Amino acid sequence: MTVPIEGFSKLTKNEKIDWIATNYTIDPKITKKVLKRYLNSDEELQKLHDEFIENTISNYYLPLGIAPNFLINEKLYAIPMAIEESSVIAAASKAAKFWLNRGGFKTRVLGTEKIGQVHFIFKGNSKKLTAYFEQVKPLLISNTASITKNMEKRGGGITNIELRDKTGGLENYYQLHCTFETADAMGANFINSCLELFAKTFREEAQVFEPFNKEERDIEIVMSILSNYVPNCLVRAEVQCPVQDLKVDEGISPIEFADKMVRALQIAKVEPHRAVTHNKGIMNGIDAVVLATGNDFRAVEACVHAYAAKDGSYTSLTHAQIEDGIFKFWLEVPLALGTVGGLTSLHPLVELALDILQKPSAKELMQIVAVAGLAQNFAAVRSLVTTGIQEGHMKMHLLNILNQLGATEDEKVTLIDYFRKHTATHSEVVKAYEKLKSN
Ligand code: MEV
Repeated sequence: MTVPIEGFSKLTKNEKIDWIATNYTIDPKITKKVLKRYLNSDEELQKLHDEFIENTISNYYLPLGIAPNFLINEKLYAIPMAIEESSVIAAASKAAKFWLNRGGFKTRVLGTEKIGQVHFIFKGNSKKLTAYFEQVKPLLISNTASITKNMEKRGGGITNIELRDKTGGLENYYQLHCTFETADAMGANFINSCLELFAKTFREEAQVFEPFNKEERDIEIVMSILSNYVPNCLVRAEVQCPVQDLKVDEGISPIEFADKMVRALQIAKVEPHRAVTHNKGIMNGIDAVVLATGNDFRAVEACVHAYAAKDGSYTSLTHAQIEDGIFKFWLEVPLALGTVGGLTSLHPLVELALDILQKPSAKELMQIVAVAGLAQNFAAVRSLVTTGIQEGHMKMHLLNILNQLGATEDEKVTLIDYFRKHTATHSEVVKAYEKLKSN
């Protein structure tokens, strides 16, 4: 029987480990051993990680890999990806190499607008509210001068504040819908600080706005927070080549391959069940780079899927067409990313990932990340419409199973060779391994 605990956060790390091991796990000895094994022996590095969050008891590792040979707007990149799923980096690398000889990836940032909102309740005459907003708007902006000064130096700042009447959806509900440019920062802290100051000024000034009656003066601020839905912080990545150049080694002709790719994309466009999996493949690439570069993958995920459903039904984020003998494959995706602030200078591996990417601006990073998504999708759909996904997956999976079984290097070589000609299901691998052992 477990019991609640008071003051868990005040315990030392070792005490926390003892407590969780004793109260929540079957074998406290093993729990402690596993947790401690993943702590870093470099005390300074461990302290850094301990302090990223609260109640740290260990570290949770993900592999960091490299997908090389990405030609993006004529510049070559090796892309760092943090991901646990086998085959993703192999697929990205394969797509990069394929397009390297066909002109590479072309990308364009279509917008970088960030959004934040002050949500409030106003009980009164909406025309008076509009008049009040027009009067107070310059003050809302000038009162944030101390916060915006640095951002303006870097080319960012507040771009607009709009009063929006949302009473159609909820009685007396209005908002200040605010837009920002945040240069190379993701901008969450900047935006939230501005919003909280807008809210304060907006509420205080209402109390002395002459035309308001008593109830109107009492504006109720509900909350001030950035929106992770940023449909105008958008990037496009594209590949194209003549259809006859789409020679693939999976035993189908270029035109057949191009047609199948287009057909697969058409299905993802009209069928949400397929679209979700299709977009998940895109996110395999996107999330891995977002994570490696210390960006907020939850924000990116939330935004991307809202964007995929923006026209009322969930659909594919990538598109493909054949026109005048040219195969074109592209992705448009909203990505709010930063290359300064946050983890970027705190986490040594994030700093390194950005270094490997040649210290990109936020706009450059948007383009690199979009390319990783497009490449991943191209590789996944290519497999799906030709050999099927399992062939590639099982090759990587085979290695994972062999590692789990504790196979020696020699045994791995023998079994990898054996499974070149046999289907590598989990049970077949176990059977073959046991047979090899007993010989
Ligand atoms: C697996 O992680 C991703 C795929 O399912 C994507 C897709 O189906 O397009 C292979």
